[in-house]
Amino acid sequence: MKNFIFHSPTKFIFGRGAVSSLGLELSQRSFRKALIVYGGSSAERTGILSRVKSSLDERCISYEQFGGVRPNPELAKVREGIALLRSSGYDCLIPVGGGSVIDCAKAIAFGASYDGDVWDFFDGKAKITTSLPIAAVLTLPAAGSEGSASCVISNDAQNAKRGVSADCMRPILAFLDPETTFSLPHYQTAAGVTDMIAHICERYFSGQGTAMVTDAVALSIVRTLVKAAPRALADPKDYEARAAIMWAGTLAHNDLAGCGLGASPAARAGGWESHALEHELSAFDPKITHGAGLAVMMPAWMRYVADADPIRFASFGREVFGIVPADDSAEAVKAAAMRSIEFLQAFFVSIGMPRSLKEFGLDESCVEQLLDGLEKSKGRVFGALKRIGRDDARAIYESAFR
Ligand code: NZQ
Ligand code: ZN
Repeated sequence: MKNFIFHSPTKFIFGRGAVSSLGLELSQRSFRKALIVYGGSSAERTGILSRVKSSLDERCISYEQFGGVRPNPELAKVREGIALLRSSGYDCLIPVGGGSVIDCAKAIAFGASYDGDVWDFFDGKAKITTSLPIAAVLTLPAAGSEGSASCVISNDAQNAKRGVSADCMRPILAFLDPETTFSLPHYQTAAGVTDMIAHICERYFSGQGTAMVTDAVALSIVRTLVKAAPRALADPKDYEARAAIMWAGTLAHNDLAGCGLGASPAARAGGWESHALEHELSAFDPKITHGAGLAVMMPAWMRYVADADPIRFASFGREVFGIVPADDSAEAVKAAAMRSIEFLQAFFVSIGMPRSLKEFGLDESCVEQLLDGLEKSKGRVFGALKRIGRDDARAIYESAFR
């Protein structure tokens, strides 16, 4: 078990009606003027936006609304929000939505106190040291941004999608009401579950050995998701299943599931291979949902690197899917490792996720452009479990078309 620092300062308020205490929590911290950030139509349609506003009204906290954040949030919207924030003196931000809305709010919150352009942070030209406080109202469990130290923004002009991390951007408050997720479409629910499993796997397969207690936590979260997802998909109003998924999404990405596995934000620069490969896809085509891209790229990456640590892949398969190697031989362990990856991919497909990049309407002619983007964001060689250069990444992308 490697040394680690675990810092999760967010106060999580979980359960039915959680958002009704938003105003109280903010007034106790002396916040007076909030910017509510949201996406397209879901926040209004489901009524969560009006519940947020009522809770603020009750405590006489003034607010303005900033809607229209798209999935895979874009830089122009962040710049627009920063200009608004600077002109009007808000003291906190309230994103109401999923990862895209929360990430847009985070980028506005740390970008507003920087004199230069906010993209400098994503380009490695500036370091994030301060941020306005965020109180997140989660409506889509997936990205884990409500508890994470990360923010991912797309730059369409550069065909780029980049992530940055700093503890100061972790929300101070997060409101999680599973009932707000009853309205989620099947595809978003499934993509969200896939993203959570990927957040666990990036840490579990970090190539930094084992950590008994963290491994137990991580694998039990994956087991829970494998059980709860089909229930929530069959009955979108199954509160217990929705609640399990919602909390799992937070635990999968607030760094708890990486303690002792060398998967700290700094170490992410080397690892997080499936995410790096996927981010190029959703940069190439912003209509691609992050979790759906991961459903294809993660098994493709796993097959390519499984040789580096077949015991670890076999132990994942044993704990999650009950796959037992025929015997103790290296061949049997390797076969169990490959079966574990097959089972994981079959699970993603069973909940409605794609198996091949062809299902996004892509063909192999885009691969060189994906590789150019990958090299810009991760350098010539990256990867923790196994080093990935351009030829390796090409082979992984090509295998993802089969
Ligand atoms: O735009 P609206 O109308 O609100 O609809 C949204 C959106 O179209 C809809 N939705 C949200 N809550 C709903 C709902 N529809 C019905 N009922 C509800 N309760 O869902 C759609 C997708 O939302 P989005 O926020 O894009 O999804 P997600 O939470 O999966 O976030 C994805 C983004 O997060 C980034 C991804 O790269 C991607 O840009 N990530 C952020 C991370 C972080 N900050 O730590 C880590 C992740 O690995 C990830 O990279
Ligand atoms: Zn993710």
